[in-house]
Amino acid sequence: MSTVVFLGGGRVTSAMLAGLRLGKTIHRLVVHDRNPGKLRDLKKRYAAAVEPDLNRAVKQADVLIVAVRPSSVRELLQMVGKVIGKVNRPLLAVSLAAGVPLRVLSKVAGPPVQWARAMPSPVCRSGRGLTAVTFPRILPRADRKRVQALFASFGQVVEIPESKFDVFTVTYSCSHGYHALATLASAAQAAGLDRSTALLASAHALADGIIAWRDGKHSVESLLEEAATPGGIAAAAATAMDAAGYGRAVRQGVAAGLRRARANAGK
Ligand SMILES: NC(=O)c1ccc[n+]([C@@H]2O[C@H](COP(=O)([O-])OP(=O)(O)OC[C@H]3O[C@@H](n4cnc5c(N)ncnc54)[C@H](OP(=O)(O)O)[C@@H]3O)[C@@H](O)[C@H]2O)c1
Repeated sequence: MSTVVFLGGGRVTSAMLAGLRLGKTIHRLVVHDRNPGKLRDLKKRYAAAVEPDLNRAVKQADVLIVAVRPSSVRELLQMVGKVIGKVNRPLLAVSLAAGVPLRVLSKVAGPPVQWARAMPSPVCRSGRGLTAVTFPRILPRADRKRVQALFASFGQVVEIPESKFDVFTVTYSCSHGYHALATLASAAQAAGLDRSTALLASAHALADGIIAWRDGKHSVESLLEEAATPGGIAAAAATAMDAAGYGRAVRQGVAAGLRRARANAGK
């Protein structure tokens, strides 16, 4: 058993703790945050050990998870760097901070910290998540496996090059599903369905179709062809959505997300 220490006890930490507990993790879980109320809550909900003192938190870590907002990363890591100097042993650290590259992380808190990045989502709470990971070339195979195994406790893990991390982050947000659900349901409501039937129909339309694709037997093109008979209702709706700029709106959304990722990370 190793000790996983979370620096930052906010939304993503709460979801990961839930996912790790659900996956019956063998690791000891410790959270550090500057808000005592959040620590009390995480202790109560997930039986996580809490450590309000940063030095003591870092000193007990085998794996450090950096889960503060991108704008707080540098300040936090400068403090961590001072503790690391006294730890005198290698430490594996995984940053969840969107947009903050490995070269910045290792510059602020360098050796003996070995860095990796991961991008989970709050749906890891239910054990259904996907996490992207990326590693520097120098990271030993055993450390890569430790990181992959940790995130595999609550879902699928994909390794991607760091140059693709921002676009993965923008694409992978579960907010897209909620946004599509809310948009389709309000259009259905405006056209006459009551709210709960509109939400139910929209949720099944989006989720059941995607589950069919995830089963892996059919391509998205063949599923689309099966679901939208030429001259039929679904085809008419999709054609009208495309003509109104559906593809353009999504491309603009992805581009805006990428710009924000770069701005938040100070790139
Ligand atoms: N939320 C997601 O869906 C998600 C998914 C994947 C990755 N991420 C990444 O995960 C990171 C955290 O996101 P989040 O949504 O969990 O943020 P959050 O809810 O704001 O949680 C961050 C926590 O860290 C605390 N904190 C900040 N600086 C600190 C410091 N120097 N010492 C101790 N505690 C400190 C914050 O306290 P204050 O409230 O006082 O600032 C807050 O409690 C971000 O970098 C984000 O890009 C998030």
